[in-house]
Amino acid sequence: MTKITIREARAEDAEAMAIILREIGWSERRNVLPLKEVSKPIAELLRHCEKDKGGHTVLVAVAEKDNVVGFTNVHWVPFVMLGGWKGYVSDVFVSPNASGKGAGKMLVEAVMEEGKRRGCKRLMLTNGKDKTSYKSGFYKKLGWTERPQVANFVYYYREPWS
Ligand SMILES: CC(C)(COP(=O)(O)OP(=O)(O)OC[C@H]1O[C@@H](n2cnc3c(N)ncnc32)[C@H](O)[C@@H]1OP(=O)(O)O)[C@@H](O)C(=O)NCCC(=O)NCCS
Repeated sequence: MTKITIREARAEDAEAMAIILREIGWSERRNVLPLKEVSKPIAELLRHCEKDKGGHTVLVAVAEKDNVVGFTNVHWVPFVMLGGWKGYVSDVFVSPNASGKGAGKMLVEAVMEEGKRRGCKRLMLTNGKDKTSYKSGFYKKLGWTERPQVANFVYYYREPWS
């Protein structure tokens, strides 16, 4: 059985992450772009996060030969109302080729552990209600609580990958 481990992401992982996004295929706009155009801004984001480890944690799940099969990204923000820190998880993606082997669970648990280590008050993320992950209770099974009374607002500047 494939052994999956978690490590911090590096800028060189950008292309593997871009491939995973392509495999998942949620964005038609992104999927028609050349891989380099997708991986370049990801590498820039990774370099930014690497310089600010207090503010961000980017993790990858790797299988044999350091093959990246998934990733997650969490941003640590001071939250006045909570009187402490909150972690905003912005990405949790596992390649469909590696799905069901525990990588997603390991990534989220690693984030939960890191938040605990930092003395965080809570973690937060959004999960599309039409997604399999939502329907299968992926986060609930990991101890997360859904807040149906909270609306998720977004203010758009421009379309992603435009
Ligand atoms: C959701 C996702 C991260 C799960 O990763 P994974 O590595 O396949 O999941 P795991 O193997 O760690 O399985 C964890 C649990 O989820 C279940 N699961 C397996 N495949 C799943 C899938 N495709 N979607 C949702 N849940 C899945 C497993 O049965 C397991 O439950 P169990 O502990 O009761 O057995 C992955 O399917 C994915 O990237 N999906 C697309 C992106 C997405 O929806 N991200 C999350 C919201 S942004």
